[in-house]
Amino acid sequence: MNKENLNRQIIEGNLLSPLPVILVGANVHNKPNYLVIGYSCPFDFGKYIFFSLYPKRYTAIGIHENMTFSVNIPSEDLVEKTKICGNKSGRDIDKSSLFDNFYGELKTAPMIRECPVNIECKVHEILDYGDGEGIIGKVIKSYVNQQYTFEEEGDIKLDWRKIHPIIWATGGDFNYYKLGERIKS
Ligand SMILES: Cc1cc2nc3c(=O)[nH]c(=O)nc-3n(C[C@H](O)[C@H](O)[C@H](O)COP(=O)(O)O)c2cc1C
Repeated sequence: MNKENLNRQIIEGNLLSPLPVILVGANVHNKPNYLVIGYSCPFDFGKYIFFSLYPKRYTAIGIHENMTFSVNIPSEDLVEKTKICGNKSGRDIDKSSLFDNFYGELKTAPMIRECPVNIECKVHEILDYGDGEGIIGKVIKSYVNQQYTFEEEGDIKLDWRKIHPIIWATGGDFNYYKLGERIKS
């Protein structure tokens, strides 16, 4: 071990973190259901979204049924409802009336009106990796209310300072955090 490595501690798990908490929505037997996903990943410059889903999740039924889902980004004021979506299964409680649901172009991917950002996805591929499934969604359309945008140098941009996403950290802490200030480049 070289000198620099001597004061490096090993922390178990994947430290590619923090990430915004997302609420993935799917219609299960024609009713909206949402669960919390902590490990999500956009790729190919955001054209696709990847996350893993354990087979016993009720939401998995709806994703297979319709081959569509939504990604909703809750803000801090939705933390209690977000906790319900991450702790309780649609098998045991009806999560369809937790939020004001709406549909977009795909018609079968329920989205949450209270969440400032909503993304509709079509299932592109489902990977079987043993412990669960890897869901790859192709982004079809993204929605944001005008109140969460700002104009800069003639462009309309999404203002993350107004969104107040719930940030989920790994590395043993596994708590929720707030997003900080913008570093102006
Ligand atoms: C912070 C956090 C991150 C989570 N990440 C995942 C995940 O990546 N994949 C997964 O299958 N479940 C994940 N869960 C668990 C589900 O959200 C939870 O089991 C939920 O109640 C399932 O709901 P459903 O059965 O209605 O689909 C996470 C939960 C929390 C609180």
